[in-house]
Amino acid sequence: MLQDEGIRDRVAQLKEEAARQAVTYVEDGMAIGLGTGSTARFMIDALGERVRTEGLRVCGIPTSEASAEQARRLGIPLTDFVNHPILDIAIDGADEVLRGSLGLVKGLGGALLREKIVATAAKRFVVIVDQSKLVDKLGTHAPVPVEVTPWGWERAAKWLGETGARACKPRMTRDGSLFITDNGNMILDCHYPGIDNPDELCQAILAITGVVDHGLFLGMASEVLVAGLDGIERLVP
Ligand code: 5RP
Repeated sequence: MLQDEGIRDRVAQLKEEAARQAVTYVEDGMAIGLGTGSTARFMIDALGERVRTEGLRVCGIPTSEASAEQARRLGIPLTDFVNHPILDIAIDGADEVLRGSLGLVKGLGGALLREKIVATAAKRFVVIVDQSKLVDKLGTHAPVPVEVTPWGWERAAKWLGETGARACKPRMTRDGSLFITDNGNMILDCHYPGIDNPDELCQAILAITGVVDHGLFLGMASEVLVAGLDGIERLVP
């Protein structure tokens, strides 16, 4: 148990190191995409610290209500796509990073749709992870979350099964109720036995009516900062 806690603390430290490194990329005047999840939370904390101590003038578009609330609390001004249709940088975590191409699985925090919109709006998309997230095949450790409309989700789940998923289950909250995204949709967590052709799978999933988007982020990461026991490695595709 103590050992488990020690590992958890170390992983949290690594996430924080990657997050702090990414925040050094931020310059005065930038518009920033603010990710979601425990690693992104460290990043928003570090950004807030720079705003407070250096008087850094930036603004952010958050990828979830949780990140918006954290940013507001830390005094990071928020903006929108009317004022900033293009962001200078977006910084976010990931659940899996494919070695080589840097394809990602994202969305275990349930924010995949806003995360993808923000990532595609950014000139530079920086991903921050600890080394446990690196994989040789996507789908190895994490399910692919698929955001679907609540009405008719059963049909989408059936067709997702046809794409090779072993199981596609509605995500539930800890208290046993249905998880609903910030956009009012459901998430189906689709478990694949490793994904051989991620591009093909993306197309197959998006072709299903009722699917809003999915957690495969292919060809989007500009770089990945991987925090490991020997320091931070910077990967580029
Ligand atoms: C949320 C995400 C997160 O970036 C992803 O789940 C990684 O989370 P964490 O930094 O907590 O490991 O995609 O939708």
